Amino acid sequence: MRADGVSRLMVALDVPTREQALDLAAQTGDCASHFKVGGRLFTAEGPDLVRELKNAGSGVFLDLKFHDIPNTVAEAAQAATGLGVDFFDVHASGGEEMMKAAVEASSEEASRLGIPAPRILAITVLTSMSSTVDEVLALAERARNAGVDGVVSSAWEAKAVREALGADFLIVTPGIRPSWAAKNDQRRVATPEVAIANGADFIVVGRPITKADSPGSAARMILDEMAPAEVPQ
Ligand code: C5P
Repeated sequence: MRADGVSRLMVALDVPTREQALDLAAQTGDCASHFKVGGRLFTAEGPDLVRELKNAGSGVFLDLKFHDIPNTVAEAAQAATGLGVDFFDVHASGGEEMMKAAVEASSEEASRLGIPAPRILAITVLTSMSSTVDEVLALAERARNAGVDGVVSSAWEAKAVREALGADFLIVTPGIRPSWAAKNDQRRVATPEVAIANGADFIVVGRPITKADSPGSAARMILDEMAPAEVPQ
């Protein structure tokens, strides 16, 4: 973790085992603001790994994309909050009532435990799918009405979301591909600089780091690319 706290790079720990996750975390930790734990790693290694990352002082984004009836999502949100994660997410397409249930359950659980409530993000449209800006904006507005803290959206829509929803609404952007990395299955890709210029608060990067020969150097290069360019005088 960067001591200055300025990193906006979330590293997706998209690996199959605890050992590989901790190794990746060790290699990229000085560049990452948070580690993202998604469906694969969480299904394989469970909440213990999340606790281990938290106990080591890391920021964690639990990316399980909850999408179910409001009561079930509220219970999942309560459990995520109890784990002490910094961020978790729900699908905006699950509806306003479902998102509100997550927000309420999470804030109640956080006050019960006397811990800060995690920030809740809503998935607009997956970056592997095509979508229109209007679709993303409609979902983002629904998320804000429900009391969610921000959205996950591609860099392509980030600018419109920022303009429509203001400075305080968080935007987390996956589908990041530095010019030197492969596109894989992502469609709406952007470079780190473009994502930040379009208003992203954080970028999420998986394969350009996890598949690199040196994940640590890849993370460092991405961090450098995100730094605002010096304006020549
Ligand atoms: O490997 P890559 O950089 O494409 O990884 C992107 C990460 O962001 C994956 O963990 C994926 O699940 C996640 N993600 C995404 N699109 C969303 C939300 C999350 O690609 N809308």
